[in-house]
Amino acid sequence: MGRRGGALPLLPLLLLAAAILSLSARPAAAIGSRPSSLGEAYVTLLYGDEFLLGVRVLGKSIRDTGTTKDMVVLVSDGVTDYAKKLLKADGWIVEKISLLANPNQKRPARFWGVYTKLKIFNMTSYKKVVYLDADTIVVKSIEDLFKCEKFCANLKHSERLNSGVMVVEPSETLFNDMIGKVQTLPSYTGGDQGFLNSYYSDFANAHLFEPNLSPEVLKSRPAPKMERLSTLYNADVGLYMLANKWMVDESELRVIHYTLGPLKPWDWWTSWLLKPVDVWQNVREKLADSLPGTGGGRNPNDELLVKFLFLLPLCLLFFGYYRSLPQVLQQCRSCRSSCDNIRQFIYRIRFNGSYSGVSTASGVTFNQQFSNGAPSKIPMYLGGISIIRLSPFGL
Ligand SMILES: *[C@@H]1O[C@H](CO)[C@@H](O)[C@H](O)[C@H]1NC(C)=O
Ligand SMILES: *[C@@H]1O[C@H](CO)[C@@H](O)[C@H](O)[C@H]1NC(C)=O
Repeated sequence: MGRRGGALPLLPLLLLAAAILSLSARPAAAIGSRPSSLGEAYVTLLYGDEFLLGVRVLGKSIRDTGTTKDMVVLVSDGVTDYAKKLLKADGWIVEKISLLANPNQKRPARFWGVYTKLKIFNMTSYKKVVYLDADTIVVKSIEDLFKCEKFCANLKHSERLNSGVMVVEPSETLFNDMIGKVQTLPSYTGGDQGFLNSYYSDFANAHLFEPNLSPEVLKSRPAPKMERLSTLYNADVGLYMLANKWMVDESELRVIHYTLGPLKPWDWWTSWLLKPVDVWQNVREKLADSLPGTGGGRNPNDELLVKFLFLLPLCLLFFGYYRSLPQVLQQCRSCRSSCDNIRQFIYRIRFNGSYSGVSTASGVTFNQQFSNGAPSKIPMYLGGISIIRLSPFGL
């Protein structure tokens, strides 16, 4: 034991540094160099960091369908620089917008700024945009939505259009017309959805959007001003809860919308209340480590330095434990396998969603741990090190 005592503190430190470097050297966003997207984009809105994880998961779910189209997130003033950087690393194009004043200020405060959604109609650098709320997730390709000609949305509860999923053909004329009417048209919600229901007042009578019409049919008719999307493109979890199953063909489901007020999938308690939340959680778990420590949707509030300080005693413990096992020591002689061990260890901590902080204060050093001489203090497996589970998603 004493033989290696002098070299011990240095070795894990170097290996750890190497492991951390190799992890951070991974490509930040594999989609950075995608081809241009022919004027079509997926768009969402972020009003504040609260929905950041929602946007990250939505983005991953969109990319998972294999699309190469632009993904644009419109961010308002309330979004932090870190959130913007993270979304960029995830592959989003981040565009800053200022909040459009909501003329119905006497309406509920939560609708403040909701009119900002109308800005989607002014995104004239794109020919067509598919807008998705941050509390939606794409479970199957929705590229056919770009065939919608002018305006498409879903009908929900009592014949009203839902603005959670929309296809918009941006037009400055249309946008200016809307803005001109914001003052006068009523809004039953006080927000964009109510306004759009007034603006597209005849929406309940719109025809169903059919993605597979032949070019002849398309040419022979005037482009409809608005079309209705099938429920598959905006399947409400509320709908699921009513019957405890999807009221539509589940294999054809395209977009799940986690409505239901405070029940959002990123609130941990919803996962065992709602089965469809699993779908969301599965995507969340696979989120890339776009910025250090953000894999699996975690939020590294802690600086890298803090993380390093946190990992250091664990690493020392790790090595101390392994050192006591001769057969493992044999492996540890090879630097390569030690690196792999540490890397696996770090992956486990980062991707298992169970790391948020540690109860063994970073001040407790290797020597203090071992001078107690109690072998029982050494965990049987590394997962046994007492870790405070602040929240399952690290938020
Ligand atoms: C709408 O878009 C045009 C052209 O990009 C821009 O000049 C204008 O400021 C936009 N209007 C608003 C209210 O954002
Ligand atoms: C996460 O940890 C649990 C035990 O804490 C383990 O059973 C599971 O396999 C781990 N998952 C991964 C992906 O390492």
